[in-house]
Amino acid sequence: MLCSLLCLTVLVLLADCQRSFFPSSIPLAVRSPYLSVWYNSAAGTQPLSSSWPLFWRGAIIGWTGRIRVDGVTFSWMGSDTIWNNTADVLDIQITPTRTIFFMQAGPLNVTVTYLSPIEPSDWVNQSTPFSYVSVEARSLDGAAHAIQLYSDVSSGQPTDGQDGNPVSWSNTLTAQSLYHETQPEIIQRYTENAQQAQDGRAYSMALRPGLTWEIDTDVNCRQQFMNSGNLTKMQQGTSGPMGQPWYVFAIAVDLGSIQSTSSPVTWAIGYVRDPVVQHKTSSGVTEDRRPYWTIRYPDIGALIDAFVNDYSTAYARAVELDERVMGEAAKVSSQYIDLVSLVARQVMGALDITVLGGSGNGVEATDVKAFMKDVGYTQQINTVQRMFAAFPAYLYFNASLGGALLAPLLESQANLSGQVYAAQNLGITCTIGLLYPNATGPSGDHPQGIEQSGNMLIMMYAHARVSGDGSLLSRHYDTAKRWADYLVKSTLTPVNQESAEGLQNSNMTNLAIKGIIGVKSMAEISRAMQCDADTLQYDSQAKDLAERWLSLAQSSDGERLLGQYGNESSSAMLYNIYADLLLGTQLIDQDVLAKQTEYYNILLETQASPHGLYIDNALGNEASVAWMFFTAASVTDDGVRDQLIHYALDMASSNKTGAASPVWPLANQLPDYYDVVTGDKVNYGGGAGPALGGIFSLLAFTIPNKTIIVVQDTPSRTPGSSGGGSGSSDSNVVGVVGGALGGTVLLLVILTGAGVFFWRRRRQRHSGNYHYKDNALEHPQPYHYRVAYQQEYTSNPYADTDSTAAKAEIGSTRPDVATDSSLVDAPYVGRSKARKLAREMEQQSRPSPASSGSADPVTLPTREVASSETGPSSGTQGANSALLTTDVLGLRAEMENLRRVVQGIREERQEPPPQYGE
Ligand SMILES: *[C@@H]1O[C@H](CO)[C@@H](O)[C@H](O)[C@H]1NC(C)=O
Ligand SMILES: *[C@@H]1O[C@H](CO)[C@@H](O)[C@H](O)[C@H]1NC(C)=O
Ligand SMILES: *[C@@H]1O[C@H](CO)[C@@H](O)[C@H](O)[C@H]1NC(C)=O
Ligand SMILES: *[C@@H]1O[C@H](CO)[C@@H](O)[C@H](O)[C@H]1NC(C)=O
Ligand SMILES: *[C@@H]1O[C@H](CO)[C@@H](O)[C@H](O)[C@H]1NC(C)=O
Ligand SMILES: *[C@@H]1O[C@H](CO)[C@@H](O)[C@H](O)[C@H]1NC(C)=O
Ligand SMILES: *[C@@H]1O[C@H](CO)[C@@H](O)[C@H](O)[C@H]1NC(C)=O
Repeated sequence: MLCSLLCLTVLVLLADCQRSFFPSSIPLAVRSPYLSVWYNSAAGTQPLSSSWPLFWRGAIIGWTGRIRVDGVTFSWMGSDTIWNNTADVLDIQITPTRTIFFMQAGPLNVTVTYLSPIEPSDWVNQSTPFSYVSVEARSLDGAAHAIQLYSDVSSGQPTDGQDGNPVSWSNTLTAQSLYHETQPEIIQRYTENAQQAQDGRAYSMALRPGLTWEIDTDVNCRQQFMNSGNLTKMQQGTSGPMGQPWYVFAIAVDLGSIQSTSSPVTWAIGYVRDPVVQHKTSSGVTEDRRPYWTIRYPDIGALIDAFVNDYSTAYARAVELDERVMGEAAKVSSQYIDLVSLVARQVMGALDITVLGGSGNGVEATDVKAFMKDVGYTQQINTVQRMFAAFPAYLYFNASLGGALLAPLLESQANLSGQVYAAQNLGITCTIGLLYPNATGPSGDHPQGIEQSGNMLIMMYAHARVSGDGSLLSRHYDTAKRWADYLVKSTLTPVNQESAEGLQNSNMTNLAIKGIIGVKSMAEISRAMQCDADTLQYDSQAKDLAERWLSLAQSSDGERLLGQYGNESSSAMLYNIYADLLLGTQLIDQDVLAKQTEYYNILLETQASPHGLYIDNALGNEASVAWMFFTAASVTDDGVRDQLIHYALDMASSNKTGAASPVWPLANQLPDYYDVVTGDKVNYGGGAGPALGGIFSLLAFTIPNKTIIVVQDTPSRTPGSSGGGSGSSDSNVVGVVGGALGGTVLLLVILTGAGVFFWRRRRQRHSGNYHYKDNALEHPQPYHYRVAYQQEYTSNPYADTDSTAAKAEIGSTRPDVATDSSLVDAPYVGRSKARKLAREMEQQSRPSPASSGSADPVTLPTREVASSETGPSSGTQGANSALLTTDVLGLRAEMENLRRVVQGIREERQEPPPQYGE
């Protein structure tokens, strides 16, 4: 009985991994602040095969994809209508590094994989602003078909279209690859227009063998391919006004007559800026900082050759990273897997990792700094408050990234002894013209002294604790002390202070505790530095402040914490408590957390708005996904945690995300700040930005801490710079990766070791303490976009088993899955409605009576793992051997692995969940 329950649980998780998530905007190529391409999939949009991809800010990216089958041209991306037909999108799967579209183009199954690598332990790779798209095809009827593939990108793209501006272009053959380059004729360095840089060059590229190419107008190139399946290998002109007409850079490949592709056909696109950031040092010198990849590659051609040649190993690394991240997220819930997968690329893509002067010959970099653009929100550079929100993700991927981000902030404030609190960012606040990528140095006075000083001290200690690297601590000890002393004086009863959200009330509970955790961080920093007197002093101050804070912060009945001292009607999510748990500083007692958790549970039952909980009732309806996750990571009950996660998932799936702010037409990405009643974005929202790295709050608990090593100051090296995978020296990489994602060995260590750590912590939590009324959770209806149905080809020997038997099988197990999902999930009230809606949609879209009613679009992915899992569909044996290369390489192994991980967790739990205990 227990076993069957466990197996069922595994099944539930696996089925859910596949499809219950319909985000309203899906990342396609997201690698840098200026290479951020999305597919807007919200209600009313077309499938990718007849949609333009969008820059995060909403501008169209003229990027197309075609497949020609026996002379008939199908589109798989783009909306230009120069095609005979569009491919049907059958399913979409999102992993942390990849978005995979399963399509059908006539007699072919077509898999389109968008891969934006996340390479936290190799900073050359991480700083390469390129992204892959690859296509595989398989015949559905067993017959061979003549297949040609095509993709193009428009001139001046991917930039925000400004029709008429002069652009130039060229075509280059290197020894190994072919690439097109386009750039504005007037380079405006460090300048943006509608959030897109004006000083970059766009590239489209592919490996050289067997290609044809062409640079001509969009109509000419696409028609040439449609008519002949080949391109002319000719270039029209070298420059012209952008969009008058649109010139496109096309690359095609003729595969001949085949049943299936033996390996993926891969293109890459990129957007390169060099230098990337203008940085004014504390001595007043303005540096032009170059991208980190320049330490290994002398020029673009070398970088492109390396990137396109690396596809299969980059793919394998991406699968490994995805498995690890998804496997660890599975320990929380399947919904958590979905959210982490959705935001991972944008969090890493908000960074530019830089060096002062790349040598191009693999010589180790001497001065490494990272810069973060607050994409989607303030557009500032290294915005402290938003770095704090994103920090769990950077700690999780590679804590040394956090060090490289803190370094420029700390250096710039080292000599500002007159400023007793920490700066808000590296540019001047709210002054147009001084935003990213201009790091002009910290601004002057501001009202967020407690907020930012607390953030900086917490991040400094968190970075050192996870990376083991104490160099920033020793170098900036005095600065840290200055901020800590300020906090000791001011943080207990904050007056004339502003919170991160701009709230100016006095005595804010949540702000005060951040400052106190900052003081405790200083005590830990002193301990690492072996400054015993300071350790004692800050330790006792933090302890004393925390005690006094508790007596001020508690409600009169002692049952909860207030939003503001003495104000019994105040109510807030005390998300700053998360730092106490992350750092293991133990300022807040477990029973205080348990009471607060119970209070959140009551709020969720009685006051929750359609989109979750507000940050602070003094702020009205404003909610934040990042702070909701900080809160979810600090509650003592998994059910409360899961409800908060559920609200975030609903927001990500909402077709309302783009409804507000017509002045800011984002491509419908999940915002950070939104209105908890309407679901509209608040302010600019922060969609596509780094702060959603707050979603990694729970994963950050899985990272082990290290003994902090304080090395003697070596002035020639920037603190934190050792964190990068240096260009050529592997030993360096291994030595410094720390708790980060890394090679295979490290991977195993972390999967087992950290897993145990994680669960030990979890076991102290209560589970199932509260009774959830199903109806208390009135979730809004997420929009489930319509997916097409596989058309059956009569001559396909697999068609019947695959598309009807397996589907029916899944259809029939699905109700159990829904009812038993309480095993792993909070009740998902929306699900049955979703199923009904989906069924209605299906009946409308599918005349064939054969399978209507049984299949469920929510669970459409009848891929191999699902069908073999469900048992009786023995007919899948044939289909097994007919898997796409992607499946063989990645997905199948991936699901296998995930299943093992999930199984392991269940076994580790030893006892069944409470509700099955009797
Ligand atoms: C595809 O469309 C082109 C242009 O409209 C047309 O010339 C061609 O005949 C079409 N091919 C098929 C097979 O329909
Ligand atoms: C494309 O060109 C190659 C070489 O010129 C030729 O072998 C092939 O048949 C052409 N393909 C089509 C579809 O015309
Ligand atoms: C950055 O500074 C330059 C001047 O050095 C200015 O022209 C540019 O507009 C600034 N860019 C932004 C995004 O603020
Ligand atoms: C803040 O709280 C302290 C302690 O309760 C109190 O003495 C002080 O008057 C409060 N300040 C304001 C401005 O309400
Ligand atoms: C990790 O953190 C805990 C609690 O903060 C501490 O007791 C332990 O010594 C740390 N481990 C290392 C290796 O520093
Ligand atoms: C959002 O989707 C729901 C169905 O899930 C639909 O009823 C509603 O009209 C959609 N809203 C918009 C603005 O498209
Ligand atoms: C074609 O793709 C669909 C949807 O991804 C899948 O269910 C089916 O098994 C595939 N068929 C073959 C023969 O690969």
